[in-house]
Amino acid sequence: MVSYRLDSSLAWYLLVNSSTPVGIPRRKPVPPESHWPPQSRQRVGTGGPVGLLSFSMTGAELTSTLRSRIQAHPEWYHTIELAPGLETPGWFDLRQVAGRVLPASLKGKRCLDVATFDGFWAFEMEQREAREVVAIDLLDPELWDWPAETTPEVMRTVGARKGAGEGFLLAREALGSKVERVALSVYDLDPGCLGMFDVVYVGSVLLHLRDPVRALERVRSVCKGTLLVVDAIDPLLSLSFPRSAVATLDGIGRPWWWRPNLACLARMVRSAGFKVLRRPRAMFLPPGKAQGRPGLSLGALSVREGRQVLMRTYLGDPHGFVMAVPAPLGPAQQRR
Ligand SMILES: C[S@@+](CC[C@H](N)C(=O)[O-])C[C@H]1O[C@@H](n2cnc3c(N)ncnc32)[C@H](O)[C@@H]1O
Repeated sequence: MVSYRLDSSLAWYLLVNSSTPVGIPRRKPVPPESHWPPQSRQRVGTGGPVGLLSFSMTGAELTSTLRSRIQAHPEWYHTIELAPGLETPGWFDLRQVAGRVLPASLKGKRCLDVATFDGFWAFEMEQREAREVVAIDLLDPELWDWPAETTPEVMRTVGARKGAGEGFLLAREALGSKVERVALSVYDLDPGCLGMFDVVYVGSVLLHLRDPVRALERVRSVCKGTLLVVDAIDPLLSLSFPRSAVATLDGIGRPWWWRPNLACLARMVRSAGFKVLRRPRAMFLPPGKAQGRPGLSLGALSVREGRQVLMRTYLGDPHGFVMAVPAPLGPAQQRR
């Protein structure tokens, strides 16, 4: 069994890595001296600006202050280069992935980043000259979709990793970004509230939702252009059932719910009212510096959880990439 699974991992690795990265020029961070954002346009629940950096500081002082603030932040999800050579130690380093998912230019587009966390994808869209980028996130972990068996300790521990989203504010300020973050659940997306978007990015959040199709329906309600979904998939189910839409359900203790195979991720997008363009692709999300590398041991390989950790830390987190556009709505959807 173990060797079958290892072989599957290898096959999966080859499958994923056969796709050619498109690549875009790397972000050129603005030197710290000119990192001054215009007046914050933050809305509901975003908190004020972090106010870490001051006009009177020299470049060296700014870099040193920024470095210590990066280190003081308890946990970064994203690896983001905030100044030349100054990166946040994230759980994931998605810089290469962005070049395979986002077009080289988003000039003039109005973009939405769903579940932004530290804001990596929103800042990448802004870097590609989007006209406006709005990022939503559910900042209060108590409002996430917790399964019935979740204990208060688990809620506290998992919620503490996210904090109150201060990482986004620090990154936004350091980058001189104008991305507007709105505290909003994906379930509450509404064209009357945020308007319509040319490009919507949905990343690594469907896994955390009890009802991913309903969430995608709400995304459909604000998307008038392109939808880009990059979300967790089950690699073994993707290899074993390449054409059938199947998923595993966690839903015990932690806010981890459905892990679809690649075909199922694409089906979810279609069920929510989108037309899937081109063949969905599998990819690994590379680990960042925050993820240590556990040693390879037979003990770790013999249990499912251990194999998952090894795969995630050595190869990356298996995800699927689906690109879609809104399809005409049926009568039931039109009434909603
Ligand atoms: C794994 S992170 C994904 C980060 C980022 N989207 C990416 O692709 O790298 C999950 C994020 O989902 C957010 N989240 C959880 N439930 C949500 C909901 N109902 N609506 C919006 N965001 C939600 C969390 O606050 C967290 O920021």
